[in-house]
Parts: sequence; structure tokens; C-alpha cells
Amino acid sequence: MKSEIPVDKAADCFSGFPVVLGTVSGERDNIITLAMCHVFSFSPPLIGVGIGHKRFSYGLFKDGKDFAINVPDRSLLKAVEICGSRSGRKLDKFEAAGLTREKASKVSAPLVHECPVNIECVKVDEVETGDHVWFIGEVVAARATEGYDRNGLLLYWGDYRVIGDKVE
Ligand SMILES: Cc1cc2nc3c(=O)[nH]c(=O)nc-3n(C[C@H](O)[C@H](O)[C@H](O)COP(=O)(O)O)c2cc1C
Repeated sequence: MKSEIPVDKAADCFSGFPVVLGTVSGERDNIITLAMCHVFSFSPPLIGVGIGHKRFSYGLFKDGKDFAINVPDRSLLKAVEICGSRSGRKLDKFEAAGLTREKASKVSAPLVHECPVNIECVKVDEVETGDHVWFIGEVVAARATEGYDRNGLLLYWGDYRVIGDKVE
């Protein structure tokens, strides 16, 4: 037997959301922790991030031409928490989270050096959806540390987790 779940809790039942650090440049550089990050197309390679209207980052993503997606591993959990709880409005989150800015090859957004994967995106679209705006970017460059831990962080029912057993 199945019982009703609240409509605003239905998405919690998905098996986890990727946890990434979005970076963007503008009046000041910023980092924002994001669980709303999704693939929108393989060819061309399009990835979108959902940013809430109230975030300081919103204006930076809105005004900017590009952004980057940095994939953290579990060693960066503290930095993920700082970038996901403090606003960059008056704070340099690179400094606050002990992260290092790295110059991107093709975009103006800074990369997070400590993240094993950095994906550079040029903004191609924006979609207003309720309380978030999806900024869709075309991947123009990407780099990964050789042999990095591919068990990336997931957000699942309010907890951070990593990928579990291989099923098949
Ligand atoms: C695990 C986690 C996931 C989050 N996912 C999102 C998200 O997808 N979109 C969003 O707008 N905010 C998300 N947030 C909240 C922002 O990261 C947080 O409000 C941040 O302080 C905003 O920073 P800013 O004001 O510098 O933009 C998330 C926070 C955490 C901890």
C-alpha cells in the first residue's frame, strides 16, 4: 500500500542530487554550493544550474556571460558547507572556505583549484521556473585530476552521501 506524500516533498524521493560548487565572476567573484545541477543536452554539451532569486549569486549569473561548475570530493565538505550557508555579498568565499582561485582557460569565472573536476560553461539560455532560474551553459572546456575519487558528494534527504554499491 502507498500513502500520500506532500507535493513539495516528492522530489526528495529521488536517489540524490549532485553537490557542486558554482563559480561566477562579476562585481566580485563568488562561489555557491548547488544541488540543482543537471545535464540538459549531450550534444551540444549543455549543463544547467538552478539559482534562487534571493541569492547574491543570482545577479552575478544573470549579468555574467559564463560560469563554472566545480565538482568537490568528500574532503571538501567543510568548504561546501561554508559556500552553501554564507553569502558572498560581503564575503570572499574563496578566503572564507580556504579555497584557491584558478584561472579558467575559456571563461571569466574563476575555477576552484581544490576540486578534482572543473567544467567551464558559456551561458546560452535562462529559464525562469518558480523560485529558481535555470542558467544553461554550453561546456567549452573541462578538466579532471587523473584518478580522482569519482564517488562524488550527493545530497539525499538533507544528508551528504557518496555513491554506494554497484547494482549491475
Ligand atoms: C547542499 C546545498 C545545496 C544547495 N543547493 C542550492 C541550489 O541548487 N540553488 C540555490 O540557489 N541555492 C542552493 N543552496 C543554498 C546556497 O548555496 C546558499 O544560500 C548560499 O549561501 C548562497 O550564497 P550567495 O548568497 O553568495 O549566492 C544550497 C545549499 C547547500 C548547503
